[in-house]
Amino acid sequence: MASMIFPCIFFVQYLAIASKSEAKVSAIIVFGDSSVDSGNNNFIPTIAKGNFEPYGRDFPGGTPTGRFCNGRLPPDFISKGFGLKPIIPAYLDPAFNISDFATGVCFASAATGYDNATADILKVIPLWKEVEYYKEYQKKLRAYLGDRAANEVISEALYVNSIGTNDFVENYYALPKRKSQFTVQQYEDFLIGIAENLVRQIYNLGARKLSLTGLPPMGCLPVQRKTNFHNPLKCLEERNKVALEFNGKLKATVAKLNKDLPRLKVFFADAYNLLFQLITKPSQSGFEVVEEGCRGTGLFETGILCNRHTPLTCPDANKYVFWDSIHPSQRTNKIISDQLVPLLKQLFA
Ligand SMILES: *[C@@H]1O[C@H](CO)[C@@H](O)[C@H](O)[C@H]1NC(C)=O
Ligand SMILES: *[C@@H]1O[C@H](CO)[C@@H](O)[C@H](O)[C@H]1NC(C)=O
Repeated sequence: MASMIFPCIFFVQYLAIASKSEAKVSAIIVFGDSSVDSGNNNFIPTIAKGNFEPYGRDFPGGTPTGRFCNGRLPPDFISKGFGLKPIIPAYLDPAFNISDFATGVCFASAATGYDNATADILKVIPLWKEVEYYKEYQKKLRAYLGDRAANEVISEALYVNSIGTNDFVENYYALPKRKSQFTVQQYEDFLIGIAENLVRQIYNLGARKLSLTGLPPMGCLPVQRKTNFHNPLKCLEERNKVALEFNGKLKATVAKLNKDLPRLKVFFADAYNLLFQLITKPSQSGFEVVEEGCRGTGLFETGILCNRHTPLTCPDANKYVFWDSIHPSQRTNKIISDQLVPLLKQLFA
């Protein structure tokens, strides 16, 4: 036994030194939707859940966690990339407490959006409520660490925000209400206004390092390809155009916020181009399938429509860009995160 203890202590000290010199980011704090939700929806009454097999099949321990993926999500990889913990816990998970959350916490909720009406569809956590949870977290953090240390965590943390796809896929294009109220360009502007407001709000609460993720190529999600009647399995070009248009506006807003708000740094995470590379040149990254997810046929298999009773889970998700009809596979998340981390470090570490 004694011989085991020595190398362990050495290892822990080594990690402490390594992370001190490397990461000037104190914690990873996450807002958003299923692209980054590490399991909050497990603890609210919604059908938008991913906490059963085969979700989590390739997660450490092989357990479903609520992540809409076969494994880890970008914030998990980003956290590890900054020398912090390899897993970001969900704020609503009672298995964790403030001592865990002090170095990373997730407020995200699958199926939510910028638009309050999007969260209403599947009764998930609206974005404003994610911010309310964040305020509660700040109180707990101050009680746990004291004001001074807590304020340092808050200002040195990297805030990862990834949201917006559901506003289009689940709401604008699927239901009549928003379409009757807004043209798609007006709806983009409406969402951009909310995104700007989110940044200003968490800036006023002390955040200084932010990453805002743009929309992915929505028209190439397997669920959208299936609706392409004219050209089966091809990307819906019009949806991709909307994503690019939205991202252009978001990028301009990021530039404006960087100028307006002293000591704030916001990074625009270009999910579109990172994912589009993999979708259009899959073999360059060792992928074999892009049109369908590893789970099911690509029709509507996500959440409860994707469980162990529905047939057709591929044996090796590493060959698939998408895990289910909407969500990237763990390998895709890792490849994208490996490209983002050096850019984030350049700006924030
Ligand atoms: C957090 O939980 C751990 C056990 O999981 C416990 O030892 C610790 O005291 C808790 N910390 C706080 C601040 O509640
Ligand atoms: C969303 O709902 C919250 C809480 O009711 C409200 O404060 C906020 O103004 C709403 N946002 C928009 C854009 O309507």
